[in-house]
Amino acid sequence: MKVLIVGSGGREHTIAWKIAQSKAVEKIFIAPGNAGSGLVGTNVDIKVNEFEKLAEFAAKEKIGLTIVGPEDPLVNGLVDFFEEKNLNVFGPSKKAAIMEGSKTFTRDLLKKYNIPSAEYAAFENAEEAKAYLKEKGAPIVVKADGLAAGKGVVVAETIEEAEQAINEMILDKRFGGAGAKILLEEKLLGEEASYLIFSDGKNILPMVSSQDHKRIFDQDRGPNTGGMGAYSPAPIVTKEMEQRVLKEIMQPTVDAMAKEGRTFKGILYAGLMITENGPKIVEFNARFGDPETQVILPRLKSDLAEIMQACIDGNLNEKEIKWGEKACCCVVMASGGYPGKYEKGREITGLEEANSLPETVVFHAGTKEKEGKILSNGGRVLGVTALGNSIREAIDNAYKAVEKISFKGAFNRKDIGQKALVKKV
Ligand code: AMP
Ligand code: GLY
Repeated sequence: MKVLIVGSGGREHTIAWKIAQSKAVEKIFIAPGNAGSGLVGTNVDIKVNEFEKLAEFAAKEKIGLTIVGPEDPLVNGLVDFFEEKNLNVFGPSKKAAIMEGSKTFTRDLLKKYNIPSAEYAAFENAEEAKAYLKEKGAPIVVKADGLAAGKGVVVAETIEEAEQAINEMILDKRFGGAGAKILLEEKLLGEEASYLIFSDGKNILPMVSSQDHKRIFDQDRGPNTGGMGAYSPAPIVTKEMEQRVLKEIMQPTVDAMAKEGRTFKGILYAGLMITENGPKIVEFNARFGDPETQVILPRLKSDLAEIMQACIDGNLNEKEIKWGEKACCCVVMASGGYPGKYEKGREITGLEEANSLPETVVFHAGTKEKEGKILSNGGRVLGVTALGNSIREAIDNAYKAVEKISFKGAFNRKDIGQKALVKKV
């Protein structure tokens, strides 16, 4: 079988790397991919929003399975577009991906079905939002309703900060249409963790827990990024907590979506806050996380293509999912200046040496190949990933590999996974 993976980040390189181990998979294409995915399969020069071209390619190449990585094409209906053409595709439909596409939709759904979440109110009018703010006070969370590449959230500690965020989102239209509607939310207190499941619309199979590091600098300082590193498992998600998350959040959400006529097939990603009163939803995503995928898939022992096909066919209840005991850590190497301005086109060295270390694999994100050289081509450049018998060992292995790699201006956090060690696991 031939597989097409849509996307170009670390997540998509990781999916390509894992699916290459699937029994039935003979050939992999990645559109548009990066230098790393080009080593696992063949990159195709089609962008993720070029639906027509992607479908033509899938039909022409007789692709047996297409996997959609990023949120934009999911929210814009790439899966529906493929299904209308009878092309086999993994991911939620547009109607289901709204869980990520509209934060208001998701909060309303969770409220309707009594699924633990934050108290909130939605506004399109700045004055009304400010009146609610006065009533609730700070701290408070201000969010753009639509997709804003992870940048549409302000956790405001003061009323002034919240007012400024309201002004920027509604009056200055900083996020365009995505911010025309905003949410004001109760600030949830606790530790965050990511919890992902496979869903066939009815049945679910859990993945292992993970945690990412969103801020650019050590000790969670500085602006938010796409994610500077991750580890799995997240010790905060104990066995008991995991059972609660599945029973109180994941299964009820999948059931609720089915009841609403929005059957969710694909990967449902819960951003959780583990609060004093149990797990609560910070957000849902309709896809694999980045960089969570880089620490989840190396731990998967089962055949990824088979599980994805069972999600599409609706027989996930007949499948088992097996996970390795080893822990995994991913350290993101970024271009200096990211998430602000940064340079591209820097030559990256030491990749082979890093990849030859035990239990280590360097997943590419913003890279491209030019005349036999690998060059940086984005803000997040590499996800240096390693397994270990404990989280501590996985962290040490990942940082040993980071030391082997260099490019001008390279930057990485030094404290990935430290939170897990504090928990003495
Ligand atoms: P989101 O894009 O919704 O994941 O939000 C980005 C980040 O903002 C989250 O990872 C949290 O750290 C924080 N955040 C969002 N909503 C809340 C909330 N209701 N309470 C506390 N923190 C939040
Ligand atoms: N790591 C956060 C995300 O993928 O949305």
